Amino acid sequence: MALLEGKVAIITGAGRGLGATYAQLLAAEGAAVVVNDLGRDENGSYTAEAVVAAVREAGGRAVAHTQDISTAEGGQSLLATALGEFGRADILINNAGILRDKSFLKLEEGDWDAVIKVNLKSMYAVTQPVFAWMKENGGGVIVNTSSTSGLVGNFGQSNYAASKCGAWGFSNVLAIEGAKFGVRVWTLAPAAVSALTAPLMDEATKAQMAPEHVAQVVLYMVSELSGQRTGHCLFASGQSVRELKLLSAEGIPGGGKNAAFDAHSLAAAEDKVFRPEAALTIMDFAK
Ligand SMILES: NC(=O)c1ccc[n+]([C@@H]2O[C@H](COP(=O)([O-])OP(=O)(O)OC[C@H]3O[C@@H](n4cnc5c(N)ncnc54)[C@H](O)[C@@H]3O)[C@@H](O)[C@H]2O)c1
Repeated sequence: MALLEGKVAIITGAGRGLGATYAQLLAAEGAAVVVNDLGRDENGSYTAEAVVAAVREAGGRAVAHTQDISTAEGGQSLLATALGEFGRADILINNAGILRDKSFLKLEEGDWDAVIKVNLKSMYAVTQPVFAWMKENGGGVIVNTSSTSGLVGNFGQSNYAASKCGAWGFSNVLAIEGAKFGVRVWTLAPAAVSALTAPLMDEATKAQMAPEHVAQVVLYMVSELSGQRTGHCLFASGQSVRELKLLSAEGIPGGGKNAAFDAHSLAAAEDKVFRPEAALTIMDFAK
C-alpha cells in the first residue's frame, strides 16, 4: 500500500538535486506533487518541467511551478497552483536553497541578502499561505531544510549558516503554533552528493551519499510512519540518521537576588558549564 495515496505535496527547489529526488519518491508513494523551481537547463528549459515529465512517465501525478518563491507573491501562487491542480496541500517541503560562500570579511551585502532571501524568507513566503490552508483543513506536515553548516558552523558560510540555523528556529516555533491544528513541522539537515560535490567524490562515496537515502527520511517524516511526531530536527545522509538537539551541560546554580555565581566563580567552574566532549563539529557528520 502506497504511503501517500490521496495526498498533495509541494516541494520548493525540486528541479534537481534533493528536491527532484523527493518529488519522484513522494509521487511513487501516491502523492500528487507540485514541483517548484525557477532554474533552467543549458537549453533554457525549466528543470521543473523535466522532473514533472519523469514523474508522469513513471505513472505519477505532478505539475510544475516556476516562480521565485522568495516573495510573498511567489508563495501564494505556489499554493494556488497546488489547489488549482490537485485541490489540496497536505505536505510542504521547503527545500530551495542557494550558496554564496565567502569568508566573513569578504562577504558583501548582496551575498548576505541573496542567501537570506532564498533560504529563509522563502520559508515565510511559502509557509504562511500553506500553513493557513492546513489549519483550516485538518492539518499537514511541513519539512524545513536546514544544514549542519548552520547547526554547528562551517568556514566561509556565515550567510548560509545564519539562514539555515534560522530555518531551525522557524521550525521550532511553527511546531508549537501548529500543534493544535494538526500541523506537524520537522527540520531536516541533509547531506547528499550534489552538482557541486559530485566531482570531488569517488563512485563508492557517491553511492553512499545518494539523495535517495535522504528521500527515505523525508518520506518517513511526511507519512503516517512518523505518527504524531513534530518539532524534531534530523540529520540524514546515506551513512546515518540522527536527531540533532540542544544539550545542556550540568551548569552551576545561580540566579535571584543573591546570585550564587559571579564572573569569577563562573570562570572557575568552566568544566561544568562547557562540555567540549559533547560538542559536535561539522567533521562529525562526515564520518
Ligand atoms: N546537498 C547537500 O549535501 C546539502 C547539505 C546541507 C543542506 N542542503 C540543503 O538542501 C537543499 C537542497 O540541496 P541540493 O544539494 O539539492 O541543492 P541544488 O542546488 O541541487 O537544488 C536547489 C534548487 O533550488 C532552486 N532554487 C534556488 N532559488 C530558488 C528560488 N528562489 N525559487 C525556486 N527555486 C529556487 C535551484 O534552482 C535548485 O534547482 C538546499 O536547501 C540546501 O541548502 C543540502
